[in-house]
Amino acid sequence: MTDENALIRPPQEVLDEANVQDWEGLLETAGADPVAFWEQEAAELEWSKPWEKVLDDSQAPFYHWFTGARTNIVTNAVDRHLTTARRNKLALIWVGEDTSKVRTFSYFSLNREVEKMANILRSMGVEKGDVVTIYLPRIPEIYFAMLACAKIGAIHSVVFAGYSSEALNARIDDSESKLVITVDGSWINGSVFPMKHIVDDAVKFSPSVENVIVIRNTGTEVTMDPTRDHWYHELGRLPIAQGHCETVQVDAEDPLFILYTSGSTGKPKAAVHTHGGYQVHLSSTMKNCLDIHEADRWWCTADPGWITGTSYVIYAPLLRGATAFMAEGSPVYPYPDVWWQLVERYGINGLFTAPTAIRTLMRFGDAWVTKHDISSLRILVSAGEPLNPEAWRWFHEVVGGGRCAVIDNWWQTETGAMQVTSLPAMPKKPGSAGRPIPGQAVAVLDEAGNEVPPGTDGFLVLKNPWPSMLRTLFKEPERYVETYWSKYPGYYLTGDSARVDEDGYVWIIGRTDDVIKVSGHRIGTAEVEAAVNSHPAVAECAAIGLPHEVKGNAIHVVAVLANGYEGSRELVADIRAHVSEHLSPIAKPEAVDFVDKLPKTRSGKIMRRVLRARALGEDEGDLSTLEND
Ligand code: WT7
Repeated sequence: MTDENALIRPPQEVLDEANVQDWEGLLETAGADPVAFWEQEAAELEWSKPWEKVLDDSQAPFYHWFTGARTNIVTNAVDRHLTTARRNKLALIWVGEDTSKVRTFSYFSLNREVEKMANILRSMGVEKGDVVTIYLPRIPEIYFAMLACAKIGAIHSVVFAGYSSEALNARIDDSESKLVITVDGSWINGSVFPMKHIVDDAVKFSPSVENVIVIRNTGTEVTMDPTRDHWYHELGRLPIAQGHCETVQVDAEDPLFILYTSGSTGKPKAAVHTHGGYQVHLSSTMKNCLDIHEADRWWCTADPGWITGTSYVIYAPLLRGATAFMAEGSPVYPYPDVWWQLVERYGINGLFTAPTAIRTLMRFGDAWVTKHDISSLRILVSAGEPLNPEAWRWFHEVVGGGRCAVIDNWWQTETGAMQVTSLPAMPKKPGSAGRPIPGQAVAVLDEAGNEVPPGTDGFLVLKNPWPSMLRTLFKEPERYVETYWSKYPGYYLTGDSARVDEDGYVWIIGRTDDVIKVSGHRIGTAEVEAAVNSHPAVAECAAIGLPHEVKGNAIHVVAVLANGYEGSRELVADIRAHVSEHLSPIAKPEAVDFVDKLPKTRSGKIMRRVLRARALGEDEGDLSTLEND
């Protein structure tokens, strides 16, 4: 059991260097007037036209921030650094899975690359408001592609490179993308993972896609459709790709990107994020909550196909003029000390990763860590799922040598940036995500919408609108209102259960909906079930999340077989492989059990709660709605 009152004071070195020393004072002033706080944070960035209003809540829950202002996130992430000494500073250090492969870009050369990509997009007819799908591994070109879209006012839709052609196709079609940017292949544990053919399959029947840009990465052979596909390196030599490309000034509320995420139904939904508020929230949290200084080297290990990567790999470090670090490979290839080797080699100051990675590395033992000099680290960050106290302590003591601030932070694809965290100077409670960020306030409600007393579990809601909030769900405004704002009008429903203790610290318990967090990845049960159901041997099934020591949760499938099929180990293996291929390897079920019948309500809804209780040997709870035999 956790001692929830165990407050761990941050090390003196952290306190001395923290951007925010008086964290209590900041929470108080920002809490007293959140809008004034965000306005002050916004003033640190460049706007080509000032805002008329910081927050326009006249059409709530369609909130608008910095209305009337004109800006572009690229102006603040790249352009403004070019007129200062930062132009010659490293903006990006990239290391391949083969760590002898290194590419570096100063802000000056990053800008050149972004201009080139933007010129090419323009020449292919991409205009302001068009959606561009980006299906790339962690290589520098993912920065260029995302920033190039933003620069010309196009909307990027990054699809995680581990998704199948079916999942990619659904996201391309829904967004009506005109253009897809991809690679020949990517490196995974020393082997080439071909990617271009996945895109070929995905766009075969997509009427909207006119062009596919292919970056040569692994040198793998691919099939090029001469009417549709273009090698990036060949385009880059054309005169059209050369020269300056102006950063378009857009309305603060113009969309910057959409990012698909899982919800309660099969159809993934896309959160819409905008230029103005998003850049303010990222810049502010990077300074106050993550304590990143301009001179820091910052490594967020997330993939830009998830919100953590979009926000804290791509945009946040550049907005602060820091040096971003990106590694192509996994934390355990070729050896489980590759991260520490890189931290040592490049003098990384801030490391942001996920609990799963921490738990994985912890199991390999301390020696892999301690044989490296990683004393450059000052800030250690974790997000995506609860960081259990044991992993927290290992991160703090073994990785951080007791000298670093360990910063947990809670947020979502929809929130765009962090909402609950422990500021560097704030005392920590291992296992708690911390307290609401400056300007935010949370509540825990019961079913009827009453605030529950401290220490009681309930539905976590956010009380204040915030600049990086999703503005709507892409093309589904009613679903936006219904999903987030209808259960408790006036409050944003997070979909998580949590409790807040006497000291105001938030303890996240888990999702209350049909979403499973597996290794920090957000997966919808409906998508997994659809993939399992497409296997010929399966009549129907249910996917549930069960606790897993390393992954946090693991996907378990309970299936009813079609007539004429019998359960066997081979069939289990085949169904698991089927999900891996038709949805994603990250969604591959841990186990598949066969049953004669699924528990359902009389209206035919599968009672996953009952399946979960059965699997865990717990009380099955209220079964009064269970359908009779
Ligand atoms: C869900 C959102 C890190 C943000 C990007 C993930 C869970 C997120 C924490 C944390 C406990 C966490 C929640 C949330 N979650 N951070 N620090 N402690 N749980 O965004 O993929 O949209 O997932 O991740 O359940 O609702 P996402």
